[in-house]
Amino acid sequence: MPKTILLVDDEVFFTKKLAKNLSDSGYDVFTAFSGKEGIEIAREQVPRVAIIDLKLPDISGLDVIKSLNELEQPPITIMITAHGYIEAAVSAMRLGAYDFVEKPFPVDKIKIILQNALNSANLKKTVAVATKHEKQKHGIGALIGVSPVIKNLAGLLLKLAAEDPRMVLITGETGTGKGLAAKVLHYSGRRAEKPFLEMNCAAIPENLLESELFGYEAGSFTDAKKSKSGIFEDADGGTILLDEIGDMSLNLQAKLVKVVEERKFRRLGGKKDIKVDLQVIAATNKDLRDEVKNGKFRQDLYHRLNVISFEMPCLRERKEDIPLLTDHFVRFFNNDINKTIKVVPEEVRRAFHAYNWPGNVRELRSTVERAMILSEGEELNPRYIALDLDEGSVSLDEQDGKMKLEVDLDDSSLEDIEQKIIRKTLEQNNWNQTRAAGALKMNRQNLRYRMKKMGLLG
Ligand SMILES: Nc1ncnc2c1ncn2[C@@H]1O[C@H](COP(=O)(O)OP(=O)(O)OP(=O)(O)O)[C@@H](O)[C@H]1O
Ligand SMILES: [Mg+2]
Repeated sequence: MPKTILLVDDEVFFTKKLAKNLSDSGYDVFTAFSGKEGIEIAREQVPRVAIIDLKLPDISGLDVIKSLNELEQPPITIMITAHGYIEAAVSAMRLGAYDFVEKPFPVDKIKIILQNALNSANLKKTVAVATKHEKQKHGIGALIGVSPVIKNLAGLLLKLAAEDPRMVLITGETGTGKGLAAKVLHYSGRRAEKPFLEMNCAAIPENLLESELFGYEAGSFTDAKKSKSGIFEDADGGTILLDEIGDMSLNLQAKLVKVVEERKFRRLGGKKDIKVDLQVIAATNKDLRDEVKNGKFRQDLYHRLNVISFEMPCLRERKEDIPLLTDHFVRFFNNDINKTIKVVPEEVRRAFHAYNWPGNVRELRSTVERAMILSEGEELNPRYIALDLDEGSVSLDEQDGKMKLEVDLDDSSLEDIEQKIIRKTLEQNNWNQTRAAGALKMNRQNLRYRMKKMGLLG
């Protein structure tokens, strides 16, 4: 298969040098010094890969990518930007660019990217199509938002994806998009073609979790009739997301540190080491520092995880994203459940803006979904949006750490009052359930039961 490459860059000297270097390495190289010329050559020569500078004399590199994408056999595109043009890089990735490189870069770097790009191009078509779909679904474009925090986060995710750290910790309240961010990281980096596997550490008992992660050999425990690989093995080359890492037992935490440090492990009952190349992303809505203090989380694992960690911002702190997210979910459910909602009334938008979204983006999504299922016609019916806007018959004020409660006795139930207090206490404790439960002098299970009744838990 010919390895035809197109270079589009107006820096003539740089481009010729790179072209020479690449053709010495066995590539068939074409060069263009303007965007339009590049598109012309691509049409004629059908290159496998096009490396495009962002700044061109006639049209922008992003427009070149757009035009190339429309060709019958579009090349893989790689964007070159000057240092600091992270926004343009984000846009390029949104357009489906394979990667971006900041100038200046060593030739070897572009060669590695090229090789990776070509390897991925050579994958079987079905796989390529499937992955492209996943990549589009979970590319950087999946992270919706115009707020500065989200834009920064998108830039950070792309940077991290390029750096490919071995461990990443994502914190944040429930429903803020931790799972989504993990997928974006995976699908924007070199691991995109490899598996992305998830494990919820809170959902299953410890020994089952252990055998799911590590796999086992026949006879290693009574039920183990056959050998089975675990997800550390199955995800080799790719990424695993350990959700609710704060609930992992101390024993398993110790084993996890070993896997990440030594890049090898043994199946349960196994005799030989299995080498793996994994990226481990851990997510939690707990404050792991507290867990370390309480002896529930290993300090060494915490430090290792904390090297590269970021927090997903909660929705009430970036309300400017609500309209965009709302429209996104309306579009999504129009398609998904066959609806034709075209209008979100101002009244609904105002309510969305006023509400404080304890369940974050997930709550917004399910609020939109529920209202859409129930609405007829083309308008999202405000009747089906039920949000507690703090305007009820119970109001709570806090001063000096004390809550002042005002109740309209004609118009409030004990349940209203209870819910208001629970919500307020959760807010005061940053939605940390353990602390809120402590403040309310109830156990966490009991609190969670009530939260569930209030629709605050998924
Ligand atoms: N910025 C965003 N743009 C688009 N969709 C988003 C965004 N953030 C979250 N979502 C969507 O909201 C839902 C909840 O996100 P996700 O499951 O990633 O949250 P989470 O933080 O992992 O929650 P939990 O702590 O409960 O596991 C998903 O459907 C996700 O796709
Ligand atoms: Mg999650």
